[in-house]
Order: sequence, then structure tokens, then C-alpha cells
Amino acid sequence: MSNTIKPLIAGNWKMNGLRASLDQIRDVVQAISGSKTPDCDVLICPPVTLLAEAGVLSANSRLATGGQNCHVAQKGAHTGDISATMLADCGATFVIVGHSERRSDHGETDGLVRAKARAALDAGLTPIICVGENQAERMDALAITVVEHQLDGSLPELNKGEEIVIAYEPVWAIGTGEVAASSDIVRMHSSIRDWLLKKRGLRGETTRILYGGSMKPGNAGEILALPDVNGGLIGGASLKADDFVAIINAA
Ligand code: PGA
Repeated sequence: MSNTIKPLIAGNWKMNGLRASLDQIRDVVQAISGSKTPDCDVLICPPVTLLAEAGVLSANSRLATGGQNCHVAQKGAHTGDISATMLADCGATFVIVGHSERRSDHGETDGLVRAKARAALDAGLTPIICVGENQAERMDALAITVVEHQLDGSLPELNKGEEIVIAYEPVWAIGTGEVAASSDIVRMHSSIRDWLLKKRGLRGETTRILYGGSMKPGNAGEILALPDVNGGLIGGASLKADDFVAIINAA
């Protein structure tokens, strides 16, 4: 069943990109339009400074835009923060929550991630909820236990019609050029699928589970063909349109 899920190829620009980088968005929009339309959904999450303009450039195209973080409240006295409603107002339809860099740089807990995911859903956005073990946990053979614990704490209850995306990103593979072995990715994704089915019933069958961590044009084809891998969350290789489009084509 999960093999019938339409893949999502999502770019996470992190704290990269100035106005000149909007050309990359223009190039991606063009590459996925018309007869070359890919059989997957495509998303770019630029820094929030570029989001409104990216929304204009991608309007009426196959490219969706998203935020990289949101506050748990929709508005109010929270200097420097951005709400999910504000992201939606810029044309965003997704938001990444609980990325490992937010968890480590800002001490974000599973409970906070769950509240952010709920805020995203309330604003009409689809949250991409990130989970993944670090190197020490991996060496201690705790990867699956850690990820199940994160899922348990980070996933909100869902109302009818609401959907989430899970991104499995082993922390040691992010930005390092190291990729999890295919057998480990298969084992983890199938264990996440089993967890979803056990805890979320039928909805677990249709939830997208993305892989993230040093996905590049050269390895994307192999990773994206694995069972229960329903797309990718791509950092470094999403910054250049050519590389990102090559990954889209690999899907
Ligand atoms: P990377 O980042 O592709 O540069 O490893 C992935 C991510 O952090 O989402």
C-alpha cells in the first residue's frame, strides 16, 4: 500500500539563500512545468526572508513552498518569531518542525515539536515532523527505540482530513556526506510504518515517510526506490536547481 504513495521531494535551504537565490526557484519552477512534469510533489522551504517572493514565483506552478519552523501560537507578543498563520499567508503549504538542528540549537523537545505541529495543522499547513537518532544512539543500537520515542512525543492527534509527513533524518548523516545503508533505511522506515499502523490505524498506511541526510543526485535513485521511502528531505543538494531537479527526476 505504501508503495502507492506519491513521493514528496522537499528542499530545506536552512539558513542559506539571499535574494539572488530566487533564480534557483525560478529554474525549478520551469524545470517541473509542462510536459516534463514529474510524478511527485515538489517543495522548497527557503529562509523566511524569501518565502513571500518564493510564493509569488511558484504560484500556479507544481512547486509548493514551506517554512522551516513556526511558533506554537498564531500571533502575539513573541519578538522575532514567525507563526504558522504567517507562513500560510506567504503562500506556504508545509512547514518543517522538529528538525535536529532546531532540537540541538534551540533545545526543542518532543512536546514543543508536537505543539508546533498542531499549530501548523490549525493554520492549514502540513507539518513535516523530523525524527532521527544521533551517532552515539546509533552505535548503541538504540536507533529504533529513540525514533519511536520521538514519534510518541512529537506527533499530534489528528482531526479528520488532517495529514502529516514524517522525515527520518539520522543526525549523523545530515550535511556529512555519509548516508545510512539501504538495509538500515529499509529497517527504520518499515518500523516507522509499523508504529504508525499500530498507533494511528489506517491513516498510517498513507502517511509519507521521507528520508533525509546527504541525499544527492548520485544516491537519490537508489534511496527513493526503497520500500516505505516516500520521498526525501534534502538540504545541501536543494540549494542548486540543477542538483535538486536531478533528484526530482530520480524520484
Ligand atoms: P543534507 O540536509 O541533505 O544537507 O544532509 C538534510 C536536512 O537536514 O534536512
